[in-house]
Order: sequence, then structure tokens, then C-alpha cells
Amino acid sequence: MEIVLILSQENKTLPKAEIEAVLNAEKIPYNFKEQYDGILILNIPQKYSNSLKILGNRFSYTHEICKLLIETDKAHLNTEIQKYPWKDIIIKDFAVRIKRMDKNNKFDTSHLEREIGGIINKSIEGTGRVNLKNPSNFLRLIFINEKIFITERLCKIEKKHFFNFKPHKRPFFYPGSMSPKLARCMVNLTGVKKGNILLDPFCGTGGILLEAGIMGVNVIGVDIDEKMVKGTIKNLQNCDIKDYMVFQEDARKIRLPNKVKAIATDPPYGISASTGGEESQNLYTEALVTMEEILMDTGSLCMATPHYMDINELIQSTNFEITEQHHIRMHKSLTRVISILKKS
Ligand SMILES: C[S@@+](CC[C@H](N)C(=O)[O-])C[C@H]1O[C@@H](n2cnc3c(N)ncnc32)[C@H](O)[C@@H]1O
Repeated sequence: MEIVLILSQENKTLPKAEIEAVLNAEKIPYNFKEQYDGILILNIPQKYSNSLKILGNRFSYTHEICKLLIETDKAHLNTEIQKYPWKDIIIKDFAVRIKRMDKNNKFDTSHLEREIGGIINKSIEGTGRVNLKNPSNFLRLIFINEKIFITERLCKIEKKHFFNFKPHKRPFFYPGSMSPKLARCMVNLTGVKKGNILLDPFCGTGGILLEAGIMGVNVIGVDIDEKMVKGTIKNLQNCDIKDYMVFQEDARKIRLPNKVKAIATDPPYGISASTGGEESQNLYTEALVTMEEILMDTGSLCMATPHYMDINELIQSTNFEITEQHHIRMHKSLTRVISILKKS
């Protein structure tokens, strides 16, 4: 089946990288078919259609997951809509909603939604009706360049989560906490899944651990500051996350009984996140040696660093290699680099 993903356009590379990492983690076979600005089309075997719900609960840089029904253009839109066996898919009621990806392509979307809704309504001959509030079938039409993708939306990624989980809304808050959206994406980029273990050796307020814990990943958090350790525990308990271990330690001295599948972390730099008086460069280099020891050979590390740090230099005394990098411009003088490191 062909799946159309509507992507967040706030970053050029993260949405696709996150999708690939999650599909691989969940062992869903796929191949990419087409890509446009904000849209990715991929093929997955029909038997995996039930697994799409899991993806909807994991993605952070994807807005909607839709099933492709018809690919057409303006000239053939009405005939294609008339020809389609809507009776076979519409359960009870439906809504038609248009998304214009190409802002130069201006037309009255509500008018066209009503027109297409009318054609579909006629073709189902009273066996269903329009319901804009809570339809059993949400038909999403995507207009991009000269093409129109007629799809059925299978899943909408709830923005509410990212809003409700903003750091200042948690029981424990401290400046420098990561946004839930990026935290979730970093967890996803490591390729962990439910039941695996993920470590954040610089856990701060626990933003990364929260996102992993919600996915059913077992989490381990470490911070040198006791206040952060207590705060992270409070935040995890507030989300009813039970499989956690959080303790106070220097990230360079962590010892664990078993190796972990994934590490996702946002070490300190700059003014707001304390480096414990340590020069960040040394701290990073030494912590990376420890992370290499704790990580399984097949595991991955996702790390955020400021653009002025040379990661190639930082990993010199380890067997890590950079397999992916993404850049997030925070403001004029700071870009965050998200790197995926694997053991070579
Ligand atoms: C950028 S903050 C992490 C923010 C976190 N991602 C969040 O969402 O709250 C970095 C954290 O590293 C901790 N830290 C600094 N030096 C450390 C060290 N040597 N070992 C462990 N933690 C350290 C700081 O106490 C701080 O909480």
C-alpha cells in the first residue's frame, strides 16, 4: 500500500530521518517512492497496515499519515472522484479536506471541498453522509505542484501532546530543558523500541527520558546535580512512567550492570546549562569514552551539540563514527547539531 506522510516543514532533514529510524526500529519494510517539500510517499506491505497506529504514537516531525487512494491532476480530478468506489470504503460518514502544499497555487479550498463532497455523497447514494466534526472517513486531498493526491487519513499526530508537555508545564522545570518535539525525535533517531533500554547521561529535567518512557522504553537517567535527579524522578512519576532508574553521577564515571541499546543526550554548554565548571570540550571527550563502553555494539547514540564543537575531534579517542547529522538553527548565533553515532 502507498502511504502519504505530511511532514513538518520546520526542518529539512529531520522528518525523513525520523521516519526511516522508526520504520526500521518497528521492523516495517518500506521503500520511498516520491518526495516533495513537506510530503513523503512510501510503499509498505499491506499486512503492516495495523502497525501504522504505532507510528502515529511515535512520530514528532510528521503531521499526518494517509493512505493513497488516487493520484491525479486538476484536469482529471472530477472524473477520478466520480469513478472511485467510495461505497467500499466509507463506513458511516466522511469529510473532505484539502491541503495546498504549494502556496502559489491559490484557489478557494472550501468551495472545492464542498464540490467534491457533493460528488462523493451522490456516489454513495444515501449510505453515508458528510460529517465535518468527527467523520468515520477523513478524506485528505493534497495539492502539490501539478499533482493531486487523494488520500484517506489514517492517523493524525496530536500536537496537543507537544503543547501539554512543554517543560514549564511539568512539576519540575529548569531553564535549558529541551522541547518535547526534539526530545522525541532524538529518541526516535536512536532506533529504540518498546522494551529496549535508553540512557541519558546528562538528563537535566528528564525531557528525553519522558518521551522515551511514554513509548514504553525503559529509561536510565544520570545527572551530576542532585536537584536534577530529584526533579527528573518527579517528572517521570507525574507521567506514570514506572520503568526508570535515575541517579546522581558524573557522566564520565557511569557504570551499569548491562549495556544499553540507545543513548540520547543533550550535554551542557553555554550559559544556561551548567558544565559543573568543566570545559565542555574535555567533558564531552571523556563522557564519549564512557558512553562507548556502556552502549551495545549494535546500539546508537543521538547527541545534540552546538555548531562550534567539532564532533570529529570529540570522538577521536573512541570507535564511534558519525552516521547522520542534522542542523537546527536556534537563533542567529546558535545552531544545534544532532548527530547519530554508531560503533564502527
Ligand atoms: C542541557 S542540560 C540537559 C537538559 C535536558 N535535556 C532537559 O530536557 O532538561 C545538561 C545537564 O547536564 C548536567 N551535567 C553537567 N555536567 C555533568 C556531568 N559531568 N555529568 C552528568 N551531568 C552533568 C547538568 O546538571 C544539566 O542538568
